[in-house]
Amino acid sequence: MGGSRGEIVVDLTRRDVAKLSLLGGAAVALPLERAIGGPATLANRIATSALPLPFTVPFAKPPAIWPVRSDATTDYYRVSMEPAMTEIIPGLQTMVWGYNGSVPGPTFRVLKGRQSVVRQVNNLPGRHPVLDYTPWTSVHLHGSASLPQYDGYASDICNPGQWKDYVYPNKQQARTLWYHDHGVHHTAQNVFMGLAGMYIMTDAVEQALPIPHGEYDVPLIVSDMMFNADGSLLFNLDEDSGFYGDVIAVNGRPWPLMKVQRRKYRFRILNASVSRSYRWSLSDGRPMTVIASDAGLMAAPRNVTSLRHAPAERYEVVIDFARYAPGTRITLRNSSPKNNVNFANVDKVMAFEVTGDPFDPANNTVPAVLEPYQPVMALTAADSMRTRQFVFRRDGGEWVINNRTWEDVVRSNFTLALATTNKNDVETWELRNPSGGWHHPIHVHLVDFKILSRNGRPAQPWEQGAKDVVFLGENETIRLLIKFDGGFGKYMMHCHNLVHEDHDMMGQFVVLDGANVADDPFSVPARNLPETPL
Ligand code: C2O
Ligand code: CU
Ligand code: CU
Repeated sequence: MGGSRGEIVVDLTRRDVAKLSLLGGAAVALPLERAIGGPATLANRIATSALPLPFTVPFAKPPAIWPVRSDATTDYYRVSMEPAMTEIIPGLQTMVWGYNGSVPGPTFRVLKGRQSVVRQVNNLPGRHPVLDYTPWTSVHLHGSASLPQYDGYASDICNPGQWKDYVYPNKQQARTLWYHDHGVHHTAQNVFMGLAGMYIMTDAVEQALPIPHGEYDVPLIVSDMMFNADGSLLFNLDEDSGFYGDVIAVNGRPWPLMKVQRRKYRFRILNASVSRSYRWSLSDGRPMTVIASDAGLMAAPRNVTSLRHAPAERYEVVIDFARYAPGTRITLRNSSPKNNVNFANVDKVMAFEVTGDPFDPANNTVPAVLEPYQPVMALTAADSMRTRQFVFRRDGGEWVINNRTWEDVVRSNFTLALATTNKNDVETWELRNPSGGWHHPIHVHLVDFKILSRNGRPAQPWEQGAKDVVFLGENETIRLLIKFDGGFGKYMMHCHNLVHEDHDMMGQFVVLDGANVADDPFSVPARNLPETPL
């Protein structure tokens, strides 16, 4: 944390304690320990000694979801957003809100070219039992060029007792997407409660590569959590910087231990944390091979000994366990980027235990060429038709983009836009964070982009692929190259630190397509139960 810590401390000590929102606990203690540099103390927070020791809980993949029916073009799915009791901390029960009651939600596996229709039914209670808000929802498929009315537009909400069918075209190249709640003002709480899951799209190019597939292609959904002594979730909302938990969960399991065979595995790592960013490395310092970023396979693999991972980014990383003797234990570590709030074991993520078990030797290589035909990566700065600037700042208690908030968008009756462009235009977007006190993961809906530069220097090795979220670091200026070829209409852009997003670092841009009139984000409103047949 070093020198960066100072600014967090200032924010915390002057913050009104009433701003602390708590889940599952009544009494609140001022986080004095954190103010003097130690971990937060919250009266009902579970003792570190009551948490499982790292690497004692077995690893598990999230469950899969299957269509309820399929026809010639489309697969139809049904998902119920609902509360569930689950054991995350051994011996304790935790109430979560999950897609189909599962945290993380079930994993979709879809094929490019086949459309999905996903019915989302809001079966959440009328009020959050502790935080006392109405859990309206809006489901966003992050990484998809969806139509505006199916994009999870924050104010296109579905209240408890309502449902909506979302249509996903699945026309882009193979990639790791994820679906998560996007309901206006409560996204952080809803995602913290568990409303996030992975959505994997494959295509012929990806399937034909001899990279790990099937059981060796493994989702790792990482999120940080915090608990009360009774096992209930503790949402310690620090409006100034974000939510930072003391438990690191992978696929909903605290610091799990995974048994692996002596071959290559491909991990699809999704940082589904509300605010926390990570820097991954292996305990023995050996390299990992990055093969894909947010929007799919990179042109060529990159070997790295560590990589930084902001909320909402996805990286696919191959680790070769053939180089270890059976019985070896390797841990995945997190050396925290600055301006996160850290606790005892957040420097650990999970462990791999290498076994001598027989394994399938097929698809056990990483070729030198992966996917050279990613359209946005072929663009150069010379293709750019104009440059726009976006400044991400804190303004009093609010987080703003070019001095605007989502509340300004609401007040304008959803007409205010940070940018208006034309379909197929290519633009340079310059993102600027003038502060040294925090970083922002910036996400642009609808499009894939190429990172041209960071403070005038090339992007990091793991960022040399198509992206839809970028880590905008302290005092950084980033230039992105974007082609608006994914569709047209109104789309959001925002900080993916969900606490910043909710208060209120989110705006929209408009893509015009000549005389064609785009669908309105509100054109398919939620409907009241009961459901019609799917
Ligand atoms: Cu992953 Cu607008 O969000
Ligand atoms: Cu998105
Ligand atoms: Cu931010």
